[in-house]
Amino acid sequence: MKVILICCLFLFAASHESDYQHLLHGILQGAELISPSFQLNCKISIPRFLEAYQFDETWESIISDAILYSEYCKFTSAKETLLQFKSSDSLMTKSFSKLSEAIASDRVVPSSNLNQYGVSIGAFLKPYFALASPTVLDFEFSGDISALTSGKYPTAIFHGLGDCCYYPGDIEFTDYIRKNVGTYTRCVEIGDGSATSWLEAFQSQANEGCEKIRADPEFANGLNVIGLSQGGLIARSIAEECGMPVHVLVTMGGPHMGVAAMPNCFNGFYCDIVNAAIDKDVYSSFCQNHLGPPGYFKDPYRYDAYLKNSNFLATLNNEKSLNTTYVTGMQNLDNLVLVKFTEDTIVDPPDSEWFGYFENDSHHLVPMNQTTDFHQNLIGLQQLYAQEKMHFIPIQGNHLQFTEAEFTQLVLPYLLQ
Ligand SMILES: *[C@@H]1O[C@H](CO)[C@@H](O)[C@H](O)[C@H]1NC(C)=O
Ligand SMILES: *[C@@H]1O[C@H](CO)[C@@H](O)[C@H](O)[C@H]1NC(C)=O
Ligand SMILES: *[C@@H]1O[C@H](CO)[C@@H](O)[C@H](O)[C@H]1NC(C)=O
Repeated sequence: MKVILICCLFLFAASHESDYQHLLHGILQGAELISPSFQLNCKISIPRFLEAYQFDETWESIISDAILYSEYCKFTSAKETLLQFKSSDSLMTKSFSKLSEAIASDRVVPSSNLNQYGVSIGAFLKPYFALASPTVLDFEFSGDISALTSGKYPTAIFHGLGDCCYYPGDIEFTDYIRKNVGTYTRCVEIGDGSATSWLEAFQSQANEGCEKIRADPEFANGLNVIGLSQGGLIARSIAEECGMPVHVLVTMGGPHMGVAAMPNCFNGFYCDIVNAAIDKDVYSSFCQNHLGPPGYFKDPYRYDAYLKNSNFLATLNNEKSLNTTYVTGMQNLDNLVLVKFTEDTIVDPPDSEWFGYFENDSHHLVPMNQTTDFHQNLIGLQQLYAQEKMHFIPIQGNHLQFTEAEFTQLVLPYLLQ
């Protein structure tokens, strides 16, 4: 890959080695891979730059230098993100060509203040860095499918962990639904998206989702809800806890019975703190009250701790006590469409996406119909199953790896009923 950074050659030529470090620092700040308030307080000399700066410098080598810089300054999460990003040729090619376009059209403006310039480059690249995370949707909509039959109901979409309604994949997915279902479609953002999905107690995220759905007059007469990854749990809470008339509930890789291992956080400056807190004790009140994913963590060997402390999932699943409102919400569904990614390495175990889980006190996996939850019919799944309203759809691939063609063939028909 050779994307020549022509615009910057003159700036670099007029600058010093330490200014180059300001550029790298700015990129990390702008992409929010380190806190915007971090001062430049560790100095690194990058000799390659001294030789190279008067010649062609490529975006790729700037990313490599940013990795060196992150490693040297112990920005662990930033380094991880950039490494993942750099390991994807297609992601780099796509993002750098978009960046070059943005510079050519003055949407990213070069500045002789290299820190400032770095910040604007970083802000532009942020969604592409995020795409390096396996929990962020990478969906491409070709845009040339002609609308099929129009659906009856509007659609609300909830994204997954570390994701954001304005990231490229989510924009394209929302456009795809808008075009192909043909009704009002909205990606419902909670807080500021990416950071909030990690840093807010899961029940609060669900409550905010509920308030936004209720406040939107377009949804007042009924809606369909699509939840991606952990957004699948928020989507289910709209039917159970929010009292909204949900017709079709679609979850793509939703951890309905919980996860036995926490996904790694790497694409935000808060990630080092998140990872450290989660490693310490997921069931601590700190984790439950200040972080999202611990709300659906279910350690099969600590079921009692889960029941006692789970901020969210044990309630949603009626495992703590039975709330008949939740059962009614589920039974009012016309269809419950559950997509499981067969090679999912993020949701552990992937069977959780089909309401299966580990048996109590073991790592023995059982399908939905052998779980205690199902036998006790805690949320009314027995009726939904008997009425053939539950649809178990496997998609081959890792977490959220689905194409437009797969969605069109396997899921879209339910949204048009
Ligand atoms: C059941 O859930 C509804 C909706 O979330 C709530 O208003 C109600 O207080 C709950 N009932 C009980 C007994 O917890
Ligand atoms: C799981 O096991 C714990 C004790 O090990 C017990 O207290 C709890 O009731 C069990 N839960 C279920 C759903 O079987
Ligand atoms: C339980 O589900 C599995 C597939 O998940 C199926 O093969 C089996 O027949 C089901 N058992 C009953 C009793 O329905």
